[in-house]
Amino acid sequence: MTEASPEATAEARRRAALDAIGAEVAACTRCRLHETRTRAVPGEGTAATEVMFVGEGPGFNEDRQGRPFVGQAGAYLEKLLESIGWARHEVFITNVVKCRPPDNRDPEPDEISACSEFLTRQIEALDPALIVTLGRFSMGRFNPGSKISQVHGTFRPAHTASGAPNSLAYFMYHPAAALRDGGVEAASRADMQGVPAALTRSRELRAAVAEAGSTAHVPETKPEFLTDNHEPTSDSDPTERLGLF
Ligand code: URA
Repeated sequence: MTEASPEATAEARRRAALDAIGAEVAACTRCRLHETRTRAVPGEGTAATEVMFVGEGPGFNEDRQGRPFVGQAGAYLEKLLESIGWARHEVFITNVVKCRPPDNRDPEPDEISACSEFLTRQIEALDPALIVTLGRFSMGRFNPGSKISQVHGTFRPAHTASGAPNSLAYFMYHPAAALRDGGVEAASRADMQGVPAALTRSRELRAAVAEAGSTAHVPETKPEFLTDNHEPTSDSDPTERLGLF
């Protein structure tokens, strides 16, 4: 019998971890959202990916199907992915909260915090090079204190408390906002074009960190801007942690 390659073994381990988290999410009663949900929506996608998309929370269709981004916003997200030659099955897609807030209201802080551990464990399982945030609730986890209008289309190391010490985070508007507003839609199309470059940059940083030693993390550098029409907010300039970059 031939032995599985190290890559295949690692992928199988990640898949098993993601499936175990998914089973826990499906039975979760940690917050009030479980009382009104039809199905919990843990997230879906390949365990072999380097990229995780994180939205806000399930809507009507997602709640019915138990799958993320399957409604209009999902169709739009797929279109954006197609524009860079990607398909949804090549990434992992999940949300900050895994159950639908009634009437699509914003998730409450205590609901986000009750669900937070699931996202942390999904990130641990996948160790994505790049996390693409969709909308301000997701951005709030990976780049707290920033404004989406100022940071969309840019990337930076994920905030240390986000549970993603080795990932870059790339910020995009929520697809539903793009469907409501022509300006946001144009910005979203432009922003998606920057995702592959952000992934390339993250691979470079992770390779350098791997060379520097196993305890190093992707360093916090100044935000990197893909276009020059975004100004960093004054509170988003952490100092460098490693002298590498
Ligand atoms: N909006 C989200 O934020 N997530 C989904 O899964 C669907 C719509």
